[in-house]
Amino acid sequence: MEELSQATAILIVEDDKASRLGLFEFVKLEGYSVFEADTVNAALNILNSNNNIGIIITDLKLPDGTGLDLLRSINEGMVQRAEVVITTGFSSVKSAVEAIKLGAYDYITKPINLDELGLIIKRIISNKRLIDEINILKTRLDERFNFGNLITSSKKMIDIVNTAVAVADKNSTVLIEGESGTGKEMLANIIVNNSHRKSKPFIKVNCAALSESILESELFGHEKGAYTGADSLYKGRFEIADGGTIFLDEIGEIPLRTQSKILRVLQEKEFERVGGNKTIRIDIRIIAASQDIEKKVEKGEFRQDLYYRLNVVNLKLIPLRERKEDIPLLIKKFLEDFSKENGKNIKGLNKNALDILLKYDFPGNIRELKNAIEFMTAISDSEILDEHMLPSYLKERHQENKFAGGAGNVSDNASPSLESYIKIPFSLTLEKAENLIIRKTLEKNSYNKLKTAKDLNIGLKTIYRKLSDIS
Ligand SMILES: Nc1ncnc2c1ncn2[C@@H]1O[C@H](COP(=O)(O)OP(=O)(O)OP(=O)(O)O)[C@@H](O)[C@H]1O
Ligand SMILES: [Mg+2]
Repeated sequence: MEELSQATAILIVEDDKASRLGLFEFVKLEGYSVFEADTVNAALNILNSNNNIGIIITDLKLPDGTGLDLLRSINEGMVQRAEVVITTGFSSVKSAVEAIKLGAYDYITKPINLDELGLIIKRIISNKRLIDEINILKTRLDERFNFGNLITSSKKMIDIVNTAVAVADKNSTVLIEGESGTGKEMLANIIVNNSHRKSKPFIKVNCAALSESILESELFGHEKGAYTGADSLYKGRFEIADGGTIFLDEIGEIPLRTQSKILRVLQEKEFERVGGNKTIRIDIRIIAASQDIEKKVEKGEFRQDLYYRLNVVNLKLIPLRERKEDIPLLIKKFLEDFSKENGKNIKGLNKNALDILLKYDFPGNIRELKNAIEFMTAISDSEILDEHMLPSYLKERHQENKFAGGAGNVSDNASPSLESYIKIPFSLTLEKAENLIIRKTLEKNSYNKLKTAKDLNIGLKTIYRKLSDIS
């Protein structure tokens, strides 16, 4: 911290000499190195010759321009990136708001409350430190391992990913647990990419998406004539994955009868195709994933012996609400990705939008955040996205929360008033109406399929089957 606060220099831009000196002394006493300027031009010169300035505290009105000119120069890449804090009289708060839209970090009204300014500086520095640390960590890890696109700064998550990488090259079975959208599949990809099986087949099976009647032949294949319609030999996913890895997603959805066959594959590495008696031996690595397998074991819906066999290495992913420090990083990454994809140049979110997202619980985890950012990127052309561009359900929950005077948990559905109806036009077919109901309920439940299935009183399988295109 100490090192970094020294490394980050602060530039004060203010034409009133007394105010400038006051700020200068304050910032210096706080232990930072300080530069000062009294015009936009002088500020730009200083920025061009000192590349360690990380924060600019600038007056809005200056003799040769405004603080906004400085912001624009930063946005246009004319000078190095730095966080800008605008100081302004009460009369020009409107322009200060304009500045926030242009990407200023914050504004502070005159007369300046130095405690408040001190806090803002500390916040900027600790944010910067966090990002620096992550970048260092990430490059260090990237040098040795392939982390793909996984972004995290959470210590617990880094431990989990490190464990995943450490066991990647072993053959041990891995069970990945985690709520909807926490990155289970992403972690499975990382394991495979860091194993010697990387160039061998990697077969993914969504056990919830396959109906019980075809599950066994999908997994184990069938012989010609095994049943009516089986007019040729069919190789199952285990056989195709021979030599490589199989990912059994939503393994908790497998019926008990099939579970015993999977246990045999795990223990003996062998099975027979449906309708056949030739034993097929395979060399395979199994990665399984589930949202709620422990509950299924308790309820007797999942074999305990199979659970233990799968659970050789257990990786439990942390929900996003327990690692909120990841939210700004993920937003940055998704904004970059979706901006590129849509040919836009979106630089960030304003403070209000970020605050709303930071307060939100994200029951749908990273996927939900990703969807929200994708939506915002799609509907907006401005460089800084504001709170009005959030998906409506987030805005509404935020409003409800504000009116209720509540803090924190904006995700509970305490007030149904704003979203308890789905409008269905008369002309809609039954199939489309069903589809709409499922989609809207999914949306209301932040893409949590398990909760949606419970609300609609249908199985998880049905959701997957009806909406095989929703991910
Ligand atoms: N740490 C992360 N960094 C960047 N992107 C992430 C991260 N975790 C998840 N994602 C993204 O979020 C989305 C959901 O991740 P993934 O499909 O791996 O989750 P899941 O746990 O398998 O979800 P589900 O239970 O719904 O199947 C994906 O688009 C993935 O790329
Ligand atoms: Mg998944």
